[in-house]
Amino acid sequence: MVTQNQRSTALITGAGRGIGRAIAERLADDGFDIIVADVPEAKDNVNSVIDAVQQRGRDAVGVFGDVSNPDDVARFVAEGTTALGDLHVFVANAGIAQVDPILDVEPAALDRMLDVNIKGVFYCYQAAARQFIAQKSSGKIIGAASIVAYRPFPLLASYSATKWAVRGLTQAAAMEFAKHKITVNAYAPGVVGTAMWDLIDERLTTLEGTPRGSALERQVDGILAGRVSVPEDVAKLVSFLSGPDSDHMTGQTVLIDGGINFA
Ligand SMILES: NC(=O)c1ccc[n+]([C@@H]2O[C@H](COP(=O)([O-])OP(=O)(O)OC[C@H]3O[C@@H](n4cnc5c(N)ncnc54)[C@H](O)[C@@H]3O)[C@@H](O)[C@H]2O)c1
Repeated sequence: MVTQNQRSTALITGAGRGIGRAIAERLADDGFDIIVADVPEAKDNVNSVIDAVQQRGRDAVGVFGDVSNPDDVARFVAEGTTALGDLHVFVANAGIAQVDPILDVEPAALDRMLDVNIKGVFYCYQAAARQFIAQKSSGKIIGAASIVAYRPFPLLASYSATKWAVRGLTQAAAMEFAKHKITVNAYAPGVVGTAMWDLIDERLTTLEGTPRGSALERQVDGILAGRVSVPEDVAKLVSFLSGPDSDHMTGQTVLIDGGINFA
C-alpha cells in the first residue's frame, strides 16, 4: 500500500490481459502508477488497461516489445520511468504455453518457449535490478512461476521446465540482489481461467479426442476450493508481494492455486 502523496510505480509485463491485467488493476487500487508492457499486437488491450488504471485515479503508460529481447525490456524501463518516475516494483508476468507430447516438440517451438519464459524473465529481473541500483533505491522483483514449478503437467513438459527454471532463477536472484535491498519472489498460480487456459484446453481436448472445455472442467476435481482460479485471486498475492508487508520475504515461489499442490 502506497501513501497518498508518495508516487510509486510498478511495471508489469504481459499486462494487456489475463493475470497481468488483474495485477495492473489491483496495484492501481493499492496506489501504484502502472507501466503496462505487452507486445505491439496487444495495443488495444493495453489501452483498455490504461483506461482502467486511470479510472482508479492513477497514471499509466503503455510500452511495447518482446520480453525475449533484452533491448526491448531495457526500453520498457527507460520509457516507463521517463513517463512515470522511479520504479519500485517489476512484475515479470508475461509468458506463453505450449501443449505437445515431448516426442513431438519441434526445436523452433522449444526455442520460443525458452526464449519467452526463461530468457524473458531473466532479462526482466536483470533490467529491474539495474534500475533499482541506478536509482540507489530498494525494490521488489516478482516473477510468474506456476504450480508446474513444483509438479509438472504431462503434455506441458517444456512449459513446466521453464516455470521450474523461474523458481530457480528467483532463488539465485534473491541471493545476488539482497545486498542491494532488492527482494525477489514469484507467484505460482494453479488453473486460472484466462486465454492461456482456453488454449491449453483446446490443445489437450484435441490431442485426447475429448469435448472442448472438458480438460479445464476436470481440473476442478483436484482443487480443494472447488473452482478454478480467477486472475484476481493471483493479483491479491502479487499485491502482498509488492507492498511493505512482504519486506522480510525473498527467494520464495508462493503457490496460489485454491489447494492443488502443497509446497
Ligand atoms: N492461466 C493460468 O492458469 C496460469 C497458471 C500458472 C501460471 N500462469 C502464468 O501467468 C502469466 C500470465 O498468464 P495468463 O494466463 O494471464 O496468460 P495470457 O496468455 O492470458 O496473457 C499473457 C500476456 O502476455 C503477453 N505476452 C506473451 N508473450 C509476450 C512477450 N514475448 N513479450 C511481451 N508480452 C508477451 C500476451 O500478449 C498477453 O497479453 C504467464 O507467465 C503464465 O505462464 C498462468
